[in-house]
Amino acid sequence: MNDTHFQVNRDLWNNWTTLHTKSNSEHAHLLARLRAGQTTLDEIDLRALEDVSGKSLLHLQCHFGLDTLSWAREGAVATGVDFSEEAITQARSLNKELNLSANFICSNIYELPAVLDEQFDRIFTSAGVLPWLPDLSQWAKIVARYLKPGGTFYLRDSHPIRHILVPPRLDATGKPIEHGYFHRAEPTKVEERGSYAMPEVDTVHTAYYWTHSLGEIVTALCSAGLRLEFLHEFPKVIDSCYSYEETRPGRYELRLQHNVAIPRTFSIRATC
Ligand SMILES: C[S@@+](CC[C@H](N)C(=O)[O-])C[C@H]1O[C@@H](n2cnc3c(N)ncnc32)[C@H](O)[C@@H]1O
Repeated sequence: MNDTHFQVNRDLWNNWTTLHTKSNSEHAHLLARLRAGQTTLDEIDLRALEDVSGKSLLHLQCHFGLDTLSWAREGAVATGVDFSEEAITQARSLNKELNLSANFICSNIYELPAVLDEQFDRIFTSAGVLPWLPDLSQWAKIVARYLKPGGTFYLRDSHPIRHILVPPRLDATGKPIEHGYFHRAEPTKVEERGSYAMPEVDTVHTAYYWTHSLGEIVTALCSAGLRLEFLHEFPKVIDSCYSYEETRPGRYELRLQHNVAIPRTFSIRATC
């Protein structure tokens, strides 16, 4: 693993966290819900992890803690981990403001064993997590290390095929961002304008992303000793999707095809 990639991504996340806690961010309505005593958790995730009351729960890549604090509100003894100092500072401040009792740790998840030595009933991670991780085999071993025997691991993230089936985004230099489906050791370097939650903001930050196929994700977890209970794919109808049309014999051009259902999200539940 390359420390420079982590350092660049950490800088980006420190900057993005500052953006995401502003009142015009897409996160603002989630923050408002949390402050109003509600949950930021998706119904799918609440159903998948069932009753967490009284259970210890580790939330990996928790950003500034909205979902961690929601799990605490569901009764879990929640611990959030993220490597962005700014995210953890914001999460701790929200925890205090809302009088909740979640614990937050600032650490790269690959270095977590140096600062955390306990096991959990539940491990949760979701929504934009795997593309930041270079090595899924190591990640899955970390998950297995922190899961109590009989405990439950749950992941929900963007489906890896999604990046290929939707038209590529342009980066800040105007270059299309081409993601492959299969994992390559070298990350994709992207100059991000704004952030996914505040695309209109005129900041530019470098990001390094790694792609992981669905097979790689499942195999990493199984090889680390976890037993899969389900792998769900959620087909959502999106506005447009690529298809190829033969415009002349032997010549194919991309056409936009409307209302094609493709998997955009997947979830996995596993035990150990
Ligand atoms: C898209 S966010 C997750 C969003 C979160 N699910 C939410 O709903 O707010 C990804 C998070 O992963 C964190 N991250 C990226 N690489 C990491 C690493 N190696 N170790 C720990 N955290 C990491 C980032 O700091 C960021 O907060």
